[in-house]
Amino acid sequence: MDTILRSCRLLNGEVIDIGLDNGLITAMEPHLGAEAAQDIVVGGKLVSPPFVESHVHLDSALTAGQPRWNQSGTLFEGIEIWRDRKQSLSLTDVKERAIATLKLQAEQGTLYVRSHADVSETNLVALTALLEVRDAVKDWITVQVVAFPQDGLYGSPGNLELMNEALKLGADAVGGIPHYEMTREDGVQSVHRIFELAQHYDRLIDIHCDEIDDDQSRYLEVVAACAVRSGLGSRVTASHTTAFASYNNAYAFKLMSLLARSQINFIANPLINITLQGRTDTYPKRRGVTRVKELWQQGLNVSLGHDCIQDPWYNLGTGNMLDVAAMAVHVCQMTGQEEIAACYDMITANGAKTLALEDAYGLEVGKPANLIVLDTDSPYEAIRRRATVTHVFSRGKLLVQTEPAVVRWE
Ligand code: FE2
Repeated sequence: MDTILRSCRLLNGEVIDIGLDNGLITAMEPHLGAEAAQDIVVGGKLVSPPFVESHVHLDSALTAGQPRWNQSGTLFEGIEIWRDRKQSLSLTDVKERAIATLKLQAEQGTLYVRSHADVSETNLVALTALLEVRDAVKDWITVQVVAFPQDGLYGSPGNLELMNEALKLGADAVGGIPHYEMTREDGVQSVHRIFELAQHYDRLIDIHCDEIDDDQSRYLEVVAACAVRSGLGSRVTASHTTAFASYNNAYAFKLMSLLARSQINFIANPLINITLQGRTDTYPKRRGVTRVKELWQQGLNVSLGHDCIQDPWYNLGTGNMLDVAAMAVHVCQMTGQEEIAACYDMITANGAKTLALEDAYGLEVGKPANLIVLDTDSPYEAIRRRATVTHVFSRGKLLVQTEPAVVRWE
């Protein structure tokens, strides 16, 4: 056996030894008698499947302040700044920032990342760079790339062709932004076209859907109806859906039954949603985060993402998924013990489901040996204290170690 991790506390509280061999989890037992080349005493600390970042934009990450800072803090100023910044994108620029961001994420326990790549610029530089990064890092982190038409599928005459090209080049999922199209009709048409493309190229779908405070932005119902009619169901994800927080309750109630029928996935990005949304409100000021608790109570699959790490839309962000979960706990008022545990699921197993990774994800014998050790003993404490991820194992090998901070009182 290559490695034995002794006294690992699982998410359910059970304490066992875990054996890793040849890139796989090969044993999970109360006490492993075997010997291994690498023997690590975990000492009852929490051992978890890695975090899953289900929504981030690696192409714009680490560009905050370039060429200028977003002073209004709005989504729309962010899109304008990005339109300028992306004029100077190069393969090297995107790849260097993407890899730096992936390292930041991996060292904090994230080994699965779904990134959007802007495909509304003529040379497809961002997409090409992220596809190259996806291949370059595959031995230590799994990256999915969504072809995302930031300026709208119908925003410029060539955008639809660029989307087709992106899918031919190998993007994993078709993206969209119906609420940003020029008209409501364009928005509806874009959703239908996204489903046609996904079926034609056999790809997943992840749409930036209703990322606005407008209570009349209702593309989520179109996405859900298309998911029902196409049978694509869990291959479909609606990201953000912040307008859902502003819908009247009668409509939200009706919508919820369609969503349950559709079985689509949801991604909330609480750090950026709480920051970007509600900017046109005075008081009371809306939180602008989708109905995470209610979707979870309905049994729908909800995961969480950063969306942005130091870019034109959000100049903060650390790449630590525990920050994301902690914000969800607060903003979505999920402070009950079961609810906090659910928020931990949203940065782990639920994200894996969104990314359609279930068969390869989780702590089970026979699955790939991807796991993390945290300096704590429960998901609740992990989120409360933003516990340090002390060990990251990827493909059976120890990828990163971090020493927890030491406090000395004099
Ligand atoms: Fe996004």
